[in-house]
Amino acid sequence: MKAINVGLLGIGTVGGGTFAVLRRNAEEITRRAGRPIHVSIVADRDVERTRQLTGGSCRVTGDAFSVVGDPDVDIVVELIGGCDVARELVLQAIANGKHVVTANKALLARHGNEIFAAARQQGVMVAFEAAVAGGIPIIKALREGLTANRIEWIAGIINGTTNFILSEMRDKGLSFADVLREAQRLGYAEADPTFDVEGIDAAHKLSIMSAIAFGNSMNFDQAYVEGISRLDAADIRYAEQLGYRIKLLGITKRTAEGVELRVHPTLIPAKRLIANVEGAMNAVLVKGDAVGATLYYGKGAGAEPTASAVIADLVDVTRMHTADPEHRVPHLAFQPDAMVDLVILPISEVVSSYYLRMRVEDRPGVLADVTRILADDGISIVAMIQREPGEGEEQTDIIMLTHKTRERNIDAAIVGIEALPAVKGRIVRLRVEDLL
Ligand code: NDP
Ligand code: HSE
Repeated sequence: MKAINVGLLGIGTVGGGTFAVLRRNAEEITRRAGRPIHVSIVADRDVERTRQLTGGSCRVTGDAFSVVGDPDVDIVVELIGGCDVARELVLQAIANGKHVVTANKALLARHGNEIFAAARQQGVMVAFEAAVAGGIPIIKALREGLTANRIEWIAGIINGTTNFILSEMRDKGLSFADVLREAQRLGYAEADPTFDVEGIDAAHKLSIMSAIAFGNSMNFDQAYVEGISRLDAADIRYAEQLGYRIKLLGITKRTAEGVELRVHPTLIPAKRLIANVEGAMNAVLVKGDAVGATLYYGKGAGAEPTASAVIADLVDVTRMHTADPEHRVPHLAFQPDAMVDLVILPISEVVSSYYLRMRVEDRPGVLADVTRILADDGISIVAMIQREPGEGEEQTDIIMLTHKTRERNIDAAIVGIEALPAVKGRIVRLRVEDLL
């Protein structure tokens, strides 16, 4: 059967991996797809390097816009990243009737609503398995495997860089800044790590999963995002003493009042499988009403793991290339006319348990004052530890875990506690999830 022709935009880390795996596994991929998947043209800024990488097996250009208009190209694979040029290229590809495969989570989180609407109008597919958790087929699982379920919540470790940093902070007792420097030296973290360490990359991925889970539009702008850069190694240690690990989680939850969409460092019980996901690995926990909790684990980044997801999309698109658009799996799992507009809850309305660490004067009555304020705000304590003060020390740390409460209640309590003369400095507040 005639090959399907791919126009590859960007042959960097993921593009290079995609090209290599397509070539290495061509025979098996053809048997699965029903026809060969042939990269007919590659666009990259570095044309000479691209010629060397592709070894004369396809055309090479420095002009990505010529690829999206190329009449021989059936599927455009966008692997250049970013939002500006990538958005233009993807929209032009769609307007030209090309199917699109992309790993670009930033693009979809920010412009997905526009891109999917354009794709529907043109009757083309936009596939994006690689955009969330790299090689883990979580989009396929959410969109197809779990389609019988009313999804209740998703909680994921969806950023490898931050999980690596948190693992190292815990294992070696090092500070965030020291581990980040080491991660950059080893090439785990980007020179500008902001997107990863401030939780933005995880929020991009979470917004995509949330839309698919609940049939909502993409709502990245309303996500609550808090990264790990202000996390203190002391809190990792105290959490450990209380039987918890701290992970940067992306959490989306359907409640009676709306949808929670939040990324932040989270204490989770150390005995949960997901709490033991270490290093740069990713894992996503999905709770469906019929199936219960399901866990997906694997490499969330890297050339070939991400290529695995890109090529899975290429095979899907190839198989469905000639099918009527209504016979294809909808982009966001729900039929376009059955999408809903669920409210995204502000973080003040989220219900969670909390970890509080405060520095206090070590004298009678201080704990009573603190617990009185918590009680007045309707907050109940689950567990507490007090660091034994050192010789001659007049201050100590008190660490508390609370029962579930609304975030605005804990905020009010924190204001009250910080105003106590015996409480020194700011209170550290982290969210706690039992993930049951
Ligand atoms: P790279 O920077 O390694 O590769 C991008 C390539 O595209 C580079 O060769 C770059 O050239 C080229 N390029 C950039 N702009 C243009 C342009 N206008 N025209 C032609 N070529 C261009 O990125 P990655 O492979 O790491 O990432 C690609 C996408 O995959 C991103 O959206 C990323 O978020 C996503 N992703 C990446 C993962 C990973 O593990 N790396 C995992 C999951 C998703 P130059 O270097 O000269 O700029
Ligand atoms: N920067 C991401 C991470 C990989 O650290 O997981 C690309 O999604």
